[in-house]
Amino acid sequence: MASRELLQYSNVTRRLSLCFGGYFYLHGIYLMKALGCGAYNLIALRTFNNEVTIAMKGNRGIHGRIGSSCWIALLCLLFVTCLSFSLQSNAGSREQARRIHDRLAGVPPSDAVLQQMEDAINGVGGQTILDAADIAMNNPAFYAVTLKNIVAPWTNRDQDIFVPLNDYIATYIGLVRDQSDFRRILYDDVIYVGNNAPAYSNSNNGHYEALENSNTNLAVPANLFALAQSDPAASGLNTNATAGVMTSRAGARAFFADGTNRAMLRYTVLNHLCYDMEQLKDTTRPADRIRQDISRTPGGDSRLFMNNCVGCHAGMDPLAQAYAYYQWDYSGDPDTGNLRYTPGTVEAKYFINATTFPHGFVTPDDRWDNFWREGINKELVKWDTNNSGLQSGGYGPKSLGIELANSEAFARCHVSHAFKAVCLREPADNADVNEISRITGVFKSNNYNLKRVFAETASYCAGN
Ligand code: HEC
Repeated sequence: MASRELLQYSNVTRRLSLCFGGYFYLHGIYLMKALGCGAYNLIALRTFNNEVTIAMKGNRGIHGRIGSSCWIALLCLLFVTCLSFSLQSNAGSREQARRIHDRLAGVPPSDAVLQQMEDAINGVGGQTILDAADIAMNNPAFYAVTLKNIVAPWTNRDQDIFVPLNDYIATYIGLVRDQSDFRRILYDDVIYVGNNAPAYSNSNNGHYEALENSNTNLAVPANLFALAQSDPAASGLNTNATAGVMTSRAGARAFFADGTNRAMLRYTVLNHLCYDMEQLKDTTRPADRIRQDISRTPGGDSRLFMNNCVGCHAGMDPLAQAYAYYQWDYSGDPDTGNLRYTPGTVEAKYFINATTFPHGFVTPDDRWDNFWREGINKELVKWDTNNSGLQSGGYGPKSLGIELANSEAFARCHVSHAFKAVCLREPADNADVNEISRITGVFKSNNYNLKRVFAETASYCAGN
């Protein structure tokens, strides 16, 4: 069971508890237990204002299997929840307000907040439903739970949602809250920190764990604020070497550790453009930048190279070259390592297994080129979607981040993430797909204000 599905179930149980109060919620749990979910312990994702988000964790972790009777129980829960949704399908403004709050914050509003939101929906003082959503987004749980749960799986290779707050997650939360140009997440000299002890450290995550454990309200700017990564109080990385979350500590820990640095490209594209390499495969691209570690005759068959390996590696290798000067430096426990930046010196991992194909590309520097500007990915990704005359190549991850963040896929991807989190489902029909296109347009024309996207999405899924 993938972590995303698990999140949906956690949302379902959470919603149940919201819809029916603790009484029915408990019955839901007992139903699941009675029907064979006993092996699955319930774990609290997070407590906030004494609200508890519940998820199930199996003996084999979140990828553990659930018995069939347990599925029946889950389906029953799902059914009851759907029933409650359908009963609400002709929601009045109060119901809409309640639902917007519930979807964005995951907790019920106070009566006062509910009234303010209802007034906004009813146009009091010239307000709109978007103002109602803004009111809901003042709730600290929007930041600490809803936004955190979107980003947490992006910050590790297992896509595990159960990870502590870290600088990657905090930076996403901060950029949303401050209605910043969200493209900065992939290229800017920015990181969000708290004002708590211990201070930001390059060699551990203690700063963010303390911030999370203190239940600090992240909606308050003084509690979570932007620093330059190049600031000595943050990582102190050379400003030209910074590239948003790609050079965050958590990002580097996850995707520069071991391997060949191709993982940073793969996961960044997966989480920020919503395409995995498999979907971008294009065997028509030139193979001249594929490194030496890729066999041209895998299993003794050069056709396999031409029909398969080239599809990913021809495009991926010249992009991942941008990270040639980066490494996750550690000995023993990787969690205590730190990002190493060696300008002018290509990391040794770019030369491993050089004898596999000695005539392969030998990385001389951090020059990247986007061979996927042409071919099938031209239309799929729609590069330089704002026609700002971006170059299809450059040096280092900052310009690569600009290239990725200015694709249509980037804008659409972040709208889709918001949609799934707020509507609690994948886009299902034409209306949903059209709405995602519309909101993507709104996102771009409002200087990539992602908070606005959450407001638009919550309004769309509030019923009418
Ligand atoms: C669907 C895309 C895709 C295809 C097709 C593909 N690769 Fe890869 N390859 C990757 C990615 C992504 C990585 C980086 C993996 C990581 O570090 O997480 C990688 C890494 C590698 C590595 C570095 C060692 C490692 O495991 O990290 C080798 C060697 C390799 N690929 C060989 C091949 C060969 C040979 C073929 C053809 C038989 C092939 N690849 C086809 C995507 C692909």
